[in-house]
Amino acid sequence: MRPLSALVAAFALTRFAHGLSSSLTPVDAFVSTSPEVAMWVYVPETGNSTDSSQAIVVAIHSCERTADYYYENTGYASLADQYGYIVIYPNASTPSGCWDTTTSKSTTRNGGGDSQAIVNMVAYAVKNFNGNASRVAVTGSSSGGIMVNLLAGLYPDVFQAASVFSGEYADDIYDYSGSRPKMMIYHGTIDATYPYSNLGEELDGWSSVLDVTFSNNITDSPSPGYTKMVYGDGLKLVGVSAAGVGHTVPVDAVTDLSWFCIAPECDGDGLPFEQLEQLDELNQFNKLGGSFELQHRLDKLGGSFELQRRLDKFQSLQSVEWDRYNYLRFLHGREQEDSQ
Ligand SMILES: *[C@@H]1O[C@H](CO)[C@@H](O)[C@H](O)[C@H]1NC(C)=O
Ligand SMILES: *[C@@H]1O[C@H](CO)[C@@H](O)[C@H](O)[C@H]1NC(C)=O
Ligand SMILES: *[C@@H]1O[C@H](CO)[C@@H](O)[C@H](O)[C@H]1NC(C)=O
Ligand SMILES: *[C@@H]1O[C@H](CO)[C@@H](O)[C@H](O)[C@H]1NC(C)=O
Repeated sequence: MRPLSALVAAFALTRFAHGLSSSLTPVDAFVSTSPEVAMWVYVPETGNSTDSSQAIVVAIHSCERTADYYYENTGYASLADQYGYIVIYPNASTPSGCWDTTTSKSTTRNGGGDSQAIVNMVAYAVKNFNGNASRVAVTGSSSGGIMVNLLAGLYPDVFQAASVFSGEYADDIYDYSGSRPKMMIYHGTIDATYPYSNLGEELDGWSSVLDVTFSNNITDSPSPGYTKMVYGDGLKLVGVSAAGVGHTVPVDAVTDLSWFCIAPECDGDGLPFEQLEQLDELNQFNKLGGSFELQHRLDKLGGSFELQRRLDKFQSLQSVEWDRYNYLRFLHGREQEDSQ
């Protein structure tokens, strides 16, 4: 079976071909602090017309790519139709298509560079598209992933959650005592562009900033062949080591939206509740033993994070059932497809 993330990407493309409720739209009116940085948005039809404010996902492309490419290939837009949130796609029109993540303009808070331009986009979306400033997430790949590290470090008061695909740590941390964004950091073990050791450096850096230490590894999570490296209780920092994957770690928007707590099963693994219940039935059927049963009962009393723990535990105990679990996620993807 192909890795789930590849399946998700394939569905995303199909859904795109079937059409979305809205389209990628330029926003000229926001204040850019960088002549090469432009703002594009996807505001779902429903998202822009409801009274309640919407979460915001900032999705940042890599070098040699564009806002349009990220819009078409990552799945955040089709999921925005499903869950109702705004997607901001910043565009870097430098010759390389890379972001400025090194000059002091960009590595200084409110320094007037690319990073501040992106923060200004968030402010614009809050004001003009009814975005919720308390529900802002940022994600990005490669150069965009370095930008995510930078934004999370410099603007902890703007972003609540982040995910990084194949990035690099940016050692620019705003001195701040409030809460900081939760970080999920992916890297491929055979990345030939940015070294795999970047993952360790990012996790070291963030574990110190977020004050959590390594807890445990969960194999085959969030998709087969990947290892989730959990820090603390897994609510603030996780790494994802993608075995045998190169520089392009496929974006897993479904997992991201749970991590961002935009999908209803906050911190879960992208599974709707009914399917988790099915997994529980499987578990009971397999009579896994007292401690897990106890855990299961405790979990019934807990919040949605408990669902993740339950799943993780299930996976670690039941590797033979992994394909079944994967199949359920596959069905979930197809349901999303059918509902378009
Ligand atoms: C959202 O709605 C406002 C008010 O109707 C409108 O001015 C704006 O252009 C819309 N934005 C998008 C991206 O559709
Ligand atoms: C914004 O999000 C926060 C956190 O989820 C929520 O408590 C608040 O009600 C939201 N605000 C609006 C206007 O929807
Ligand atoms: C982004 O910038 C690139 C490079 O200048 C350009 O080709 C592309 O059309 C721009 N817009 C989008 C939406 O990608
Ligand atoms: C956790 O997983 C990573 C990536 O596979 C590995 O490098 C590390 O040694 C593992 N740590 C433990 C304690 O198993």
